[in-house]
Amino acid sequence: MIDIEVPPHYVGREQAFVKHHFLRNYLERLVHKIASAYDEVVYVDGYSGPWKSGGEAYTDTSFGIALQSMTDARQSWLDMPQHRRNVRMTAHLVEKQTQPFAELETIGTLFPQVTVHPHRGDFLNVAPTIAARIPSRAFTFSLIDPKGFKLDLEELRPLLARPQSEVVFNFMFDFANRFTTLESLGDTYDRLLPGIDWRPRIASADAAGPTERKAAFLACFKEAVKSVGGYKYVADVDIRYPGTNRTFYFLVYGTREPPGIAVFRDCQIKALEAQSMISGQRSLQKRETAGQGSLFDSSWETAPVSHRQFLDEQRAAARISLMDIASAEAGIQWGKVWPRLLADHAIRKKDAGSMAAALRKSGEIAFSGWEPNKRVPSDGYELRSA
Ligand SMILES: C[S@@+](CC[C@H](N)C(=O)[O-])C[C@H]1O[C@@H](n2cnc3c(N)ncnc32)[C@H](O)[C@@H]1O
Repeated sequence: MIDIEVPPHYVGREQAFVKHHFLRNYLERLVHKIASAYDEVVYVDGYSGPWKSGGEAYTDTSFGIALQSMTDARQSWLDMPQHRRNVRMTAHLVEKQTQPFAELETIGTLFPQVTVHPHRGDFLNVAPTIAARIPSRAFTFSLIDPKGFKLDLEELRPLLARPQSEVVFNFMFDFANRFTTLESLGDTYDRLLPGIDWRPRIASADAAGPTERKAAFLACFKEAVKSVGGYKYVADVDIRYPGTNRTFYFLVYGTREPPGIAVFRDCQIKALEAQSMISGQRSLQKRETAGQGSLFDSSWETAPVSHRQFLDEQRAAARISLMDIASAEAGIQWGKVWPRLLADHAIRKKDAGSMAAALRKSGEIAFSGWEPNKRVPSDGYELRSA
């Protein structure tokens, strides 16, 4: 079990801590990796804030976390004894409101290793201009974290569809889920989910129950992101209201690269551990404040399910997918299989490898070319059903 301390300025908005914990872990690994292959890394923060920030030097904001990761990655490549690289780091931060924008304008001095461009305006209008300013050989990571769900994905196409790019959306599920039947908001959902037949899909899932509805709505958003951005893999992290099982929002991630999805899943699992730990702390606090009698109170019905149970279920589902792929697509290379398993299920790359090895051992799948002493498959091995 990990032990993470939630800084006091996140109290009451622990879901932001989980988001930032994820982002920090992900960017620390991503930016360093990307900088080994690209001469410029560009970070775009569409709805940047600062928003409810209480940390020093913006350590509790998305852009503060990103700019620090870029600073560290740049320095570490500059310090590399034999493979020194001078990687250009650029950030475009967009904010609509006057006061937070005024703060953004001073950020550059805190992070002198990064060229920071603050933009004042509506992100949907500014995004195409930013996309046009990014050099074609740069790698772009965009964070799109609005307070609501009034997003027009088509407006974001020039940014999302850039070949060397990745995105993380904050899909404000709990808000978005409340108004799908409101006729007056129909256009808003059409813009959020362009080209997706969301009305019948959500309506029929609704009849099956709230879990099915949630899955259907999330699937519609992920498909929209995948098609507008042309991403190969789209995955999500479920961020809950602190101390409950109720989804607040999903972080939805799009990438074209297998290593991206591998890093994403590692970071998701760390974020789930943080979320589970916060839930545990919250439950304990509630119990201490309310006394023993409240254990029988109905509020305990929302006690969090352990992330371990969720991860066990994900592994079980991935195992079935793997066997299905083995029988339907015999001869497919492992290097094409594991990224798909990771895109569809919250498992790590090493989980996929050991799962494949165990299924091979038990005779449920087979690989051609398996070398002696190999513990997990290599990317070139061909998968078959046994
Ligand atoms: C949820 S907060 C962002 C939090 C930030 N990503 C973080 O994690 O630290 C959303 C921010 O977007 C700003 N905003 C709202 N509408 C906007 C728009 N249309 N374009 C750009 N910024 C907007 C708000 O003023 C607010 O500061």
